Amino acid sequence: MLSARLARAFVLPGRIQLRPVRALAVSTVSKSLITTSTSTSSTRLFSATTSTSAPTVLPRVKTIDAKDPTEVPVIVKGWVRTIRKQKTLAFVQVNDGSNLKGIQCVVAFDDVDETTMAQLDKVTTGCAVYVEGPLVSSPSKSGEQNIEMAATKLTVVGDCPPDQYPLAKKRHTMEYLRTIAHLRPRTNTIAAVARVRSALAGAIHEYFQKAGFLYVQTPLITASDCEGAGELFRVTTLDLDNVDALPRASDNDDEENNNNSQAVDYSQDFFGKPSFLTVSGQLGGETHACALGDIYTFGPTFRAENSQTTRHLAEFNMVEPEMAFADLQVAMANAEGMVKYVVQHVLDNCQEDLQFFTKFYDKQKMASLERLVNEPFARVSYREAIGYLQEEIAKDPSKWQFPDVEFGTDLATEHERWLAETKFNTATFVYNYPKSIKAFYMRDNEEDGGETVNAMDLLVPGVGELVGGSQREERLDVLEKKLEEVGLDKEDYWWYLDLRRFGSVPHAGYGLGFERLVTYVCGIENIRDAIAFPRYPGNAEF
Ligand code: 4AD
Ligand code: MG
Repeated sequence: MLSARLARAFVLPGRIQLRPVRALAVSTVSKSLITTSTSTSSTRLFSATTSTSAPTVLPRVKTIDAKDPTEVPVIVKGWVRTIRKQKTLAFVQVNDGSNLKGIQCVVAFDDVDETTMAQLDKVTTGCAVYVEGPLVSSPSKSGEQNIEMAATKLTVVGDCPPDQYPLAKKRHTMEYLRTIAHLRPRTNTIAAVARVRSALAGAIHEYFQKAGFLYVQTPLITASDCEGAGELFRVTTLDLDNVDALPRASDNDDEENNNNSQAVDYSQDFFGKPSFLTVSGQLGGETHACALGDIYTFGPTFRAENSQTTRHLAEFNMVEPEMAFADLQVAMANAEGMVKYVVQHVLDNCQEDLQFFTKFYDKQKMASLERLVNEPFARVSYREAIGYLQEEIAKDPSKWQFPDVEFGTDLATEHERWLAETKFNTATFVYNYPKSIKAFYMRDNEEDGGETVNAMDLLVPGVGELVGGSQREERLDVLEKKLEEVGLDKEDYWWYLDLRRFGSVPHAGYGLGFERLVTYVCGIENIRDAIAFPRYPGNAEF
C-alpha cells in the first residue's frame, strides 16, 4: 500500500499527481502541501524547478531520511559544512541538523544553469542553502550504500562571510566553543549532544507516562529551601541599585524583624516575603504524590553553589518522581528501570551519534551503555562503601585528593567514581547515608541504630552522582523534631507538615540531574557542553 510517507506530491495546475518513491520520507510540511492550489502562502516556501509558469513543489527531505535513491528531484535545506570544487564538479556537504553526516550534494557544472553556477560562487562554509535534485547511490569505500544528491539547482538563502565566521576553521576546543554558544549547535559534537538530549527527554516522559505517573509542574519561585543547603538565588523586585532606599526592618513596627535594624524588610518586596529560585521541585511534588499517587516533575532548578567543576551548573534540569505508598526499595527499583529505559531508547534511536561519541570521546561508551542496560545495578550500603574505600586508600593515600574517609564523610567525586568505575564497574546505588550529611526530609532509619537515613545516591562511571533520593519522613512528630534540629522554622513548612497531619503515607522519590545524564550518555567531559547555554559562576552570557 502506498503510504503518505512514501509518496511525493507534485502540484500541477488543476490536479494532484501522487507517485510512489522508494523509502522517501516527506516531512509533514510537504505532506500538507498536497493541494491543488499553487497560490497558498506555504507554496511560496518552495522554489520552482522549471521555468514554466507552473511551479513544481518538491518534497523536502531531511538528511536523516535520505536513505534510498529517488527517481525524482527532492529538496534539502541546510547549512554548508564544506565545499570542494574540481574542474567540472563541486561537492557541497550540507547538514540540516537531523543527523550527523548530512548529505553530499554533487553539482555537475554541465547539468546546471548559469544562475546556479553564479550561486555556487557564493557558497562558503556556514551559508544556508536550498539544494534540489534526485537522490542517487554513490559508491562508498566501506561498500555500504551511500546516498548523495545529484544537484540540479542550488540557491544560497543566507550567505556567510568566511573572514568573519567563527567556525570557519576546522577543529575547535570545547572551551572556545563555549564562547560562541549561539553558533556551536552547528558543530558535530554539540549537534549530536542536542539530538541525544532531546531523545533522552522524550524517553523520560515516555517511561513515566507509560507507568501511569502524572506530570506535575512545580513552581520555580519558592519561599522554601528544599535541600537546606542555603544555595539559593534570591528573587526580588527591590531596587538593588539604590541600596539606601531599600525598606528596612527598622522602619517597620514589626518587633520580630527589628533584631537587625539593617535587615531588609521583605514584606515590601514583590511576594511579601523572601523568595528564591527553587533548588528542587520535591516538596511541591510530594503534595501531589500524597493525593494522586505517582507523579513526576521535569524542569529547571537553580543552585548558587560556587562550584567551578565539570559536573555542576547553576541552572540545571531535574527529573523528580515521587511515589506514594512506597519505600526506598521502590524508589531504587524505579530509578534503575528509568535509567535503563532511557539509555536503551538512545541505543535504539541515536546509533550514529553514539558511534560518534564512542569514536571521539570515550572508546568504551557504547559497550558501557550496553552493559548498563543489561546488567543489574550494584547496591552497597554507605557503611560498606566506606569500608571498601578505606581499604583501597590505605594501599596508596597519595593517589587521593581526599584520603580521609570515615563514617560521616560526604563522598567526593573521586570516591564516587572509584566505586562506580573500579569497584563495581557499573551503575551503583549507595544507600543508608549518615543523617548528618543529608537533608531534613529523609526518613530516619531506626533499624540502623538511628545514625542513618533511608537515602540513596546512584553513581555512574565517568560522572559520579547521577541520582539522589530517599524515603521521606512521613511521621509528623519526627519531622517536626528534625526541622528543629537543623534550625528550620516549622512555621515556614506548615503546608509540608500538613501532608503528615492529614492522611500521611510512606512515600519516596528521587531527583535525577538531567544534564549529568546527558554528560554520562554522551561520554563528554564537561556538563557545560550538555546544555545549550550553561550557567555557572561568572557566566550568564547568551
Ligand atoms: O541530590 P540532590 O540535591 O537531590 C535533591 O534535590 C532531591 N530534592 C531530589 C529528590 O529526592 N526529589 O539533587 C538531585 C540530582 C543529583 O543527584 C545530581 O544529579 C543533580 O541533581 N544535581 C546537579 N546537576 C548539575 N548541577 C548541579 N549543581 C547539581 N546539583 C545536583
Ligand atoms: Mg545529592
